[in-house]
Amino acid sequence: PRRIEALAPRIQQITDELLDAMEADPKRRADLIDAFAFPLPMTVICELLGVPELDRDAFRAWSNEMVAPTSPEAEASAYEQMPRFLTGLIDAKRAAPGEDLLSGMIHAVDDGGDRLTPDELIGMSVLLLIAGHETTVNMIGNGLRALFAHPEQLADLRADLDGLLDGAIEEMLRHDGPVENSTERLALEDLEMGGVVIPAGSTVLISMADADRDPARFEDADRFDIRRDARGHIAFGHGLHHCLGAPLARTEGRIALRSLLERFPELGRDAEDEKLSWVPGMLIRGVRELPVRW
Ligand code: HEM
Repeated sequence: PRRIEALAPRIQQITDELLDAMEADPKRRADLIDAFAFPLPMTVICELLGVPELDRDAFRAWSNEMVAPTSPEAEASAYEQMPRFLTGLIDAKRAAPGEDLLSGMIHAVDDGGDRLTPDELIGMSVLLLIAGHETTVNMIGNGLRALFAHPEQLADLRADLDGLLDGAIEEMLRHDGPVENSTERLALEDLEMGGVVIPAGSTVLISMADADRDPARFEDADRFDIRRDARGHIAFGHGLHHCLGAPLARTEGRIALRSLLERFPELGRDAEDEKLSWVPGMLIRGVRELPVRW
C-alpha cells in the first residue's frame, strides 16, 4: 500500500497528459479505450516494473494474444516471445539494477531470502504485466458503459464525486467485473457443492461474473446502482489468491474516473452499445473500442 500511495501523483500526471491529448483533438471524439483506458494502466505497470518505453507496443500485442488469442499460432508465438524478452530484460537489470519492482524481485532472488527461481521470476513478471494490461482498462470501459446507460446515475455521480465515487467503483466491479472467471482450481478431494460432486483430480473454473450477479447475495443483482452496498463482491477473487493489484487498480480507477468526468462535463457515447465489439473468450470481459464524444 505504501508503494501505491507514493504512485498516486504519478498516476494523476499520466492521467492528465492523456486527457490533455484527448482534449486537443478538434473533432472532440475519441475511442476511449485506445486514448485513455488502456494507456493509463499500461504505462503505470510498465513504469512500476521498469519495462522500457520502446518495447510497449510489442507488449500490448503479446498480452492481448495471451488472454484472447486470435489464432493458435499467434498465441504460441506470444508465449514464446514475452518470456524471451523478459529473460533479456532481467539479465540487463541483474547487471545494472534500477529502482523498479523487477529489480527488486531479482534482488530478492539474489539475496537468498525469499527466493524466486528464475522461472518463477519470469512467471511473476508475465502475470504482473498481463494483469496490468488487461484488467483496469476494462474496469474503466465497463464502468463508463454502465454510466452512459444510466444517465441519471451519471449526473448524480458528477454532482457528488466525493460522496459517491468509491461506492460507484465497487459497483462497477460487481456489476461488470473485468475478469469473468478464475484461473483453474484443482480438487484435491471429492467435494460437494450445491448438490454437485466435484471429483478429486478434476479442475474447475469459478465464475466471478456469475457470483457477483447472484440474487441470493445481491438484491436485484442485474441492476446497476452506484448507491448499493457492493462490498463482498469477488471481482478481485477471494482467499489466498486474492488480487495482488487490487489497491493499485482501485487507485487508478478513482483517479481515472474523477479526472475524466471533471475534464469533460458533456462526455457521452458515440456508438450504440449493441454495436460494440467484445474481447473474445471466457477470461476478460470488456469492449475492444468505446467511441465517445464531448
Ligand atoms: C480492476 C482490475 C483488476 C481485476 C478485476 C483483477 C482481478 C483479479 C482476480 C479475479 C484475481 C484472482 C484470480 C484467481 O483466483 O484465479 C487476480 C489475481 C491477481 N492479480 Fe489482479 N485484477 C486487477 C488488476 C490487477 C493489477 C493492476 C495487477 C498488477 C499490479 C494485478 C495483479 C494480480 C496478481 C499478481 C494476481 C495473482 C495473485 C495470486 O495468485 O496470489 N491485478 N486479479
